[in-house]
Formats: sequence, C-alpha cells, structure tokens
Amino acid sequence: MADILRGRRMRRNRRTEWSRRLVREHTLTVDDLIWPMFVTEGTATREPVPSMPGVDRLSVDEIGAAAEEAVALGIPAIALFPYTKADKRDPLGSEAANPDNLVCRACREIARRTPGLGIMTDVALDPYTSHGHDGLMVGDEIVNDATISALVAQAMVQVEAGCHIIAPSDMMDGRIGAIRAALDAAGHENVQIMAYAAKFASAFYGPFRDAVGASSALKGDKRTYQLDPLNALEALREVELDIAEAADMVMVKPGMPYLDIVWRVKERFGVPTFAYMVSGEYAMIEAAARNGWIDGEKAMLEAVGGFKRAGADGILTYHAPRIARRLAAG
Ligand code: PBG
Repeated sequence: MADILRGRRMRRNRRTEWSRRLVREHTLTVDDLIWPMFVTEGTATREPVPSMPGVDRLSVDEIGAAAEEAVALGIPAIALFPYTKADKRDPLGSEAANPDNLVCRACREIARRTPGLGIMTDVALDPYTSHGHDGLMVGDEIVNDATISALVAQAMVQVEAGCHIIAPSDMMDGRIGAIRAALDAAGHENVQIMAYAAKFASAFYGPFRDAVGASSALKGDKRTYQLDPLNALEALREVELDIAEAADMVMVKPGMPYLDIVWRVKERFGVPTFAYMVSGEYAMIEAAARNGWIDGEKAMLEAVGGFKRAGADGILTYHAPRIARRLAAG
C-alpha cells in the first residue's frame, strides 16, 4: 500500500485540529455579514414570521434595539424590508415614496441610535403594490420605464431618511443608472448602490413574501423581469450592465443554488460581490434542524462558508446574528 501511495497522504494535514486550522483556505468573519430585518407598524412589537422560525417582524423601536445588537455583535450593516398591510397598498405602490413610510422611519431611528452602522434599503415596489409586483402594471405587463421614475422617488426618500446603501431588487432595465443620476443631481454622490444584479425568478423567495405581506397580493409570477434560473451568461450580462451604470457592489440572489454565478461574477469583474442567502434557504435549514434531521448550527456555518469559498465578499443572511454570536464564542 505504501508503495501505491508513494508517501502521498492527503489525510496527513487533516489529522489534528491545529493542522486543519493551518491549511484552511477561507475564513468567515463577522465583517462578511449583512443582517436583513423586517419592519412592522406599532411599538414594542415583535411578530413571528411563521415560515421563518426564529425571525420576527420588528416595530421601529425594536428595529433600533436590533441595530444596537448588530453593533454589539460587530455586524457592519443591516438591510431593511417593510411589512405593509393591504390598506397601505395601491396599484402604483404610492407608499414607497412617502418620506414617513415604515422604512424611512426605521432609517431615522437607526441613524439616531447607531450612527456607525451601515443601513441598506431595498428599492422595488412589491411591498407597496396591491398586485404584489416590483413595478407598475399596465394591463398584464410590468412596465419598465414608468417604473423607473417610481423607483427613483423611492430611493430618494430612503436616502433622505439616512440610508447609506440603496439596493434595487426590482430588475427593471436601466434603474441603476437612473437612480445614480438622480442621487448625484441631489448631492448624494456618496450614497452607495448595491445592485441586485443577478436576481433569479426563484421559488426560494416564498417565506419572504409572507414576511412582507406580498404573497396573498401577488398575481402571477415575476418571470418577465427576474432571470431564468437556467441562465448564467445572461446573469453575467446583467452584472456587466449594472457595473456600467455605476453600481458600487453587485449581488447574486438566491445563494446556494447559484454559487457558480457568484464565482463567475467575482472572477470576471472583480468587483465587491455579495450573495443573498434568501428566506427559503433559511427556512430549509431551520425546518430540517427543528425536526432533528440536520445539525442546524453546523449546516448554517457550512452554507455561509460556501459563499466565501465561491468568492463572495459578503453574505446577506437571516442567520447573521446567530453566526456572529457563534464566531464571537470561537
Ligand atoms: C422583492 C424582494 C424579494 C426578496 C428581496 N427583495 C422577493 C421577490 O423578488 O419576490 C427576497 C428575499 C428573500 O427571499 O429572503 N423586491
């Protein structure tokens, strides 16, 4: 046997913990995490999201407390998503441009309580439209160019409320350039844009749509604007265009089924590249773990580790606070 191996033993480096640590190629740190949070009306309110066990919708004051927790844990940035009841939704998603909407109030609260924490906000109309789509509808069509003006207005109120990173998740064509131009014209040239550049039409968004109250509203699906899950070259073109339109950072979404896209984007463009481990991915891990079918803690760390290996600079994950606590514990 020794002859066959000629002394070559891959397992030698793996025998001891200290040696495994020495040869480890990637390291996950708290600096890699963005913590997505759901905002809801009320005070001192935490409403559990049934399809995302362990995740609550938080009222603005509770969001402030969660932001303080993020800072205490060393998490660099959080991302905000509003839960909007049917009575605040209309076909135009008008609430998106209300400077006192939930997201704007949450931005002001976070900026006041935790000035050093990065705040990222989503730009898309789906939390506010009665039809649940990310853009405006004319007949059955989600219209591109008219939607862009609505998105620009939405981005502007968020920035004025104190958000640092605008994250358009709507997948309309040309929105990055339009938002950049409008922000610059208003003197907000330092506000960053993270483009949901390669966002796929995915079944893994299901629990998120429950969390923001969009699932019962949504008519049809989003395949006329989100990417076909079988297309990689088209995803690269989307990323290329968003970079050309001055995106500062790009994102691939969902995460685990799309690690090849993360890898190709990072290799090809070399720009700050993020991955969103979405609600359905969170739900799968939690559901299996809570049934005792997998070790949830280990699965969570293995999953986020995979994003680092694939080249992601950071990961949006609902597990962010748990991962941060785990990393702090060593
Ligand atoms: C909508 C948006 C979605 C997510 C983030 N922004 C859902 C969708 O496109 O329907 C999904 C996030 C998640 O599933 O965790 N603009």
